[in-house]
Amino acid sequence: MLCLTLTEPTIAKDLEVLERNRRYVSLAELRLDCLLPEEIKDASGFPKKAGLPVILTFRRTSDGGKCSLTDKARMDILAAVSEGPFSYVDIEEDVKKRDLKIKREDRTIDLEASLKARGIRIIRSLHDFEGVPADLFGRISKMAARGDIPKVAVTPQSMLDVITIFRIHDELREIKEKIIIGMGPWGVCTRILYKRCGSMLSFCSDNEAAPGQLSAQKMKELYRADAVTDQTHVYGVIGNPVLQTKSPEIHNPGFHAIHYNAIYVPFQVDSVRAFFKLAELLPIYGFSVTIPHKRNVLPYLGRITREVKQIGSCNTVVHIQNMWKGINTDYYGFLEPIMTWISDGSIKSALVIGAGGASRAVVWALRNHDVKVTIVNRTVEHAQALAMETMSAFDSVDHLGAYSGTVDLVVQTTSVGMEPHSQDDAAKGYLFSGKEIAFDLVYKPRETVFLRRAKEAGCRTVSGALMLFEQGKLQFEAFTGYHYPGNLHPVI
Ligand code: ATR
Repeated sequence: MLCLTLTEPTIAKDLEVLERNRRYVSLAELRLDCLLPEEIKDASGFPKKAGLPVILTFRRTSDGGKCSLTDKARMDILAAVSEGPFSYVDIEEDVKKRDLKIKREDRTIDLEASLKARGIRIIRSLHDFEGVPADLFGRISKMAARGDIPKVAVTPQSMLDVITIFRIHDELREIKEKIIIGMGPWGVCTRILYKRCGSMLSFCSDNEAAPGQLSAQKMKELYRADAVTDQTHVYGVIGNPVLQTKSPEIHNPGFHAIHYNAIYVPFQVDSVRAFFKLAELLPIYGFSVTIPHKRNVLPYLGRITREVKQIGSCNTVVHIQNMWKGINTDYYGFLEPIMTWISDGSIKSALVIGAGGASRAVVWALRNHDVKVTIVNRTVEHAQALAMETMSAFDSVDHLGAYSGTVDLVVQTTSVGMEPHSQDDAAKGYLFSGKEIAFDLVYKPRETVFLRRAKEAGCRTVSGALMLFEQGKLQFEAFTGYHYPGNLHPVI
């Protein structure tokens, strides 16, 4: 189940947000602590207006909410509002028994007993914004033993913490109903793969109501998180940071289009070694690799291709024949848009700006196709080292102007000109003749200053967005054995 967390100041606004997201979710959580005080009296009527099951939550400040009342006063209001037809009421695990005894005129009501008598399930919640408690499994079991639905929202700080959360599925299999959430950037994969953590639901919101929460639309339409089953094949991308990656937008729609029961998820990874453990546990069938792990994965690979050997970095790992195989689709993704020009002899010489990791893939790809390469770089020694390895020429980027109009292809591989520094020109001093092809690996913005200048001079241009898509399509082939569906054009 996907649950929409509603944190607007008025009931009317909460209903508006719900309307926008209704088709993505099967229940909603009304956050009483976010409502204006004058709205609270109408909150008990919310489930009727909402027309779907509702969780009632009155979150205190220490648990990430806005309520700063004492527990006694808070429970008093919660009891009054919970007289409405809610399906679940959230009560924190450490609320004292005596605070759950509610005084009403001449009698005292036991909130828990009263909720149970009316068939309202109690969600017993535990929050940790700093980490993952050492006795997590024990605490979940204890909460479940009271007959309630345990909810733990913890904050993993490493891949090892993430593994602990995923282990709940197997370790506490007998507790059928539970809610498990990993918050923050490390926890995003646990929110998407909530079913693989043994969680009965995952929260989503329009405004990231809790750290790491995704929108309901993304959870439902991009990830199809609620359609994950034990049979779903898990793929992903590892990096640090990783959440900005556009790869899920390439692979998830692709899987869906070929009717492959699979999901592609971003995993923030500190230790590659720990990630390979998770890959065995889940299991994971293949993954993309981004900065800073393109070299770090090499020791774990049973097989690598010639390109990975040459470039010394791997951006795609697939599990085949009981081992991890590493390939480099950046290499082919770069070649794809210009291959016809290489084959027909229009590209015989190239100038490559930059001598970092991305440049290595470009230079090797060109050299393996007999293109004459000159590498220019800010730090000449870096250009020299790559030139030696690949039998290329090299120079300082300060001399770029001298190469104006002398090559068939100019490739820009540095981060210069990338957002938010999109005014910077990576090829200052170089004058385009209009005959050469200009290729920028930067994909944000789509048209860099470098590409704009080339276009204005009449050059043919290739943007980094195209290369990104091409390398993604090749990854898709490596993952699935199918071509990427031709009718899909993800916005990247
Ligand atoms: P990547 O893996 O994306 O290629 P990298 O390995 O850090 O990243 O390489 C970055 C490349 O961009 C290098 O060629 C770097 O030049 P140095 O070798 O002199 O560091 C180049 N680069 C980065 N910032 C630059 C800047 N502000 N001006 C010029 N070149 C820059």
